[in-house]
Amino acid sequence: MLVTFDNLLTPAELAAAGEQLARSTWAPHQSAGPQALLAKRNLQLPEDCPGLPELRRLVMRALNRSPLLLSAALPNKVLPPNFNRYTGETNHYGWHNDNTLRYLPDGSALRTDVSATLFLSDPASYDGGELHIEDTYGSHLVKLPAGSMVIYPSGSRHEVRPVTRGERLACYLFMQSVVKDTECRRHLYEMDLALMRLRQRHGEADPDLVRLTGLYNDLLRRWSDC
Ligand code: NI
Repeated sequence: MLVTFDNLLTPAELAAAGEQLARSTWAPHQSAGPQALLAKRNLQLPEDCPGLPELRRLVMRALNRSPLLLSAALPNKVLPPNFNRYTGETNHYGWHNDNTLRYLPDGSALRTDVSATLFLSDPASYDGGELHIEDTYGSHLVKLPAGSMVIYPSGSRHEVRPVTRGERLACYLFMQSVVKDTECRRHLYEMDLALMRLRQRHGEADPDLVRLTGLYNDLLRRWSDC
């Protein structure tokens, strides 16, 4: 299941991130597993980049204020977001699968269940650079407006197509979800969306809505692990 979130960043946040990224020094960075590394041809903000902590806080604040994102991903742990740049000779990332295990700064492990790409460049300013994802529902090309984000199951094979004009800046991150199984997460998300619409139509107090909300929580309790 792919889900997109429009305008996750406010225009002010997008401008602040853009200014910080424009004055940062980029580096080839080896954040992928050995197989993925062979396919990786992009630049990344290094860990010691002075602006990185504030950029990470900005993205984390945006994630935490999106109820739809919380409902779709049901995050338990989030790996600190990273930032990458595709341009010139370093302009693509071939087909690969992301590593299942990542490590948090405190050394604890994180299982990647949900991957996210937050687009930071105006799509009219560059050619190519689509995020190409294969999941159980087929093949998808994703290129979103600056400030918008896509999430997809971390087990999906994916690539970033070559950027042939301009530059593509993006933020990417991984989440461990409280619900490991992708299909269970999808059922919960679709149920939650339907519940939100029913609440708008019938009000919070409708007895069947109260019952269905209870069932949503029963399923979440049954499927979650945290
Ligand atoms: Ni990847």
